[in-house]
Amino acid sequence: MCHAEPVIIGVGIDVAEIERFGAALERTPGMAERLFVESELLLPGGERRGVASLAARFAAKEALAKALGAPAGLRWTDAEVYVEASGQPRVRVTGTVAERASVLGVRSWHVSLSHDAGVASAVVVAEG
Ligand SMILES: CC(C)(COP(=O)(O)OP(=O)(O)OC[C@H]1O[C@@H](n2cnc3c(N)ncnc32)[C@H](O)[C@@H]1OP(=O)(O)O)[C@@H](O)C(=O)NCCC(=O)NCCS
Repeated sequence: MCHAEPVIIGVGIDVAEIERFGAALERTPGMAERLFVESELLLPGGERRGVASLAARFAAKEALAKALGAPAGLRWTDAEVYVEASGQPRVRVTGTVAERASVLGVRSWHVSLSHDAGVASAVVVAEG
């Protein structure tokens, strides 16, 4: 039996100014739905997720795109940040993002989010 050693294929980082991101979401019809899947927009209880947390998820998608070399044609909703029961965020990819990840040999993702002092940030590591 052969087990390939895990390797880091890419890393990405991004920051987003929370107030500016929230203002853009408010004034741009359809922006939230273009960027996020429903499970990202809503908390488990059904209420809307807060803007700092959404800005961090936007940063995670930008960071993920950088980890893949930011090719054209990735669809925002083809990357989803979801949350484990423990509270740890994870990334799930489909469609355009899964295709690019597959070409590069990415098999798993690691994500970390933060929001404080008016800024949301995320780091993503792509592992093969
Ligand atoms: C390339 C891109 C990520 C830059 O992001 P940005 O918010 O405009 O700029 P940031 O300040 O966050 O990042 C700039 C850095 O991105 C890095 N960058 C540029 N092109 C890159 C690429 N192809 N791959 C990885 N990193 C790249 C550079 O290091 C740059 O810094 P530098 O100019 O000092 O070298 C952005 O224009 C982009 O294409 N976003 C992806 C959109 C997307 O695919 N969304 C769906 C994802 S699910």
